[in-house]
Amino acid sequence: MTPHKPISYGHQNITDEDIQAVVETLRSDYLTQGPKLAEFEQDFAQKVGAKYAVAVCNGTAALHLSAMALNVHDGDNVIVTSLTFAASANCIRYCGGNVCFCDIDKENYLIDLNKLEAMLTTHPQGYYKGIVPVDFAGYPIHAEKLKALADQYHLWVIEDACHAPGAYFIDSKGNKQLAGNGTFADLTCFSFHPVKHIATGEGGMVTTNNKELYDKLCLYRTHGITRNPELMHENHGGWYYEMVELGFNYRMTDFQAALGISQLKRLDWSLQRRQEIAGKYNDAFKDIPQIKTPEVAKEVYHAYHLYVIQIEKRKELFDYLRNLNIFVQVHYEPVHLMPYYKNWGNKAGDLPIVEEYSQHCLSLPMYPTLTDEEQDWVIEKMKEFVK
Ligand SMILES: Cc1ncc(COP(=O)(O)O)c(C=O)c1O
Repeated sequence: MTPHKPISYGHQNITDEDIQAVVETLRSDYLTQGPKLAEFEQDFAQKVGAKYAVAVCNGTAALHLSAMALNVHDGDNVIVTSLTFAASANCIRYCGGNVCFCDIDKENYLIDLNKLEAMLTTHPQGYYKGIVPVDFAGYPIHAEKLKALADQYHLWVIEDACHAPGAYFIDSKGNKQLAGNGTFADLTCFSFHPVKHIATGEGGMVTTNNKELYDKLCLYRTHGITRNPELMHENHGGWYYEMVELGFNYRMTDFQAALGISQLKRLDWSLQRRQEIAGKYNDAFKDIPQIKTPEVAKEVYHAYHLYVIQIEKRKELFDYLRNLNIFVQVHYEPVHLMPYYKNWGNKAGDLPIVEEYSQHCLSLPMYPTLTDEEQDWVIEKMKEFVK
């Protein structure tokens, strides 16, 4: 059998323009905290329709700063979906909070709003402080419905949209609501890790419409240091600054921001291409009952960071494809069953839907530069396996 060149489940796309943009910034006066950072933040905020955006060194830092800005403290109970990357839960632990995991919806794989409500009703108001839903695989949560629930129980919402820049749903009034536009979630986090839609090597962003939260994010991003006379206790002259809170160095460099600006220009193209690839997989597998393809509601524009199928013989298919140089992946093992979170009292059987899903899920190659010929090869091999 002819071994095909390796095909991974995701891959960055770097063009000559991207390289040019980075090189120009490397030759400029600023390597960090220069004009490119502010430009990237402005462009990104505009793209998702938010008032403010704060660029940081990765998506995990975006989540951590968000939890800090919302004042998560020791013992605060926060609800997090178990179908995600560990960072969505870890950000709560960094601040001393307790992570209370919620199961997923069987069809769209997002946090199950009915189960979420059931969790909320079994405890008195104030028991939970907030919710971290995830736009898993690029499927945007129905943030309007989630916000209604959150308001009823006085909870904040950090939307983890690391998989979903450009994704949107149509709200009850028929308006398009982009993930991260600040209408419903208090804060929304994005990642620019290479497998994501926009790649800056490492990188992240938080968007919000809330000025107070925005100011906190900016402060915590650079050590809690400020030169703002309104925040300082004293002022001894032009050199003077104060550290007023305990923050971090979570800054993004200017050459990463330059790459981000350049990549952002191709976001629409990337989304369009991902839709095409998903459409072709859907078509190819529609008459194969052994393969469950992802379901998408009509009022949703999916960003397809991942294209996830479910199949009974997942392990066999994984090994079969890997032998053919097709590097599929599992997203994810449930976070509540990670040894660290098991030590916090979570156990198998707690969340049956996500546990069942994680036995069968497999992410097929999905990235804009996947060629038709490569996708045809993947489909052909999948069909051979199923036969
Ligand atoms: C859903 C989700 N949240 C958070 C993160 C963390 O982002 P980063 O790797 O940029 O820290 C990731 C990254 O894979 C992710 O997939």
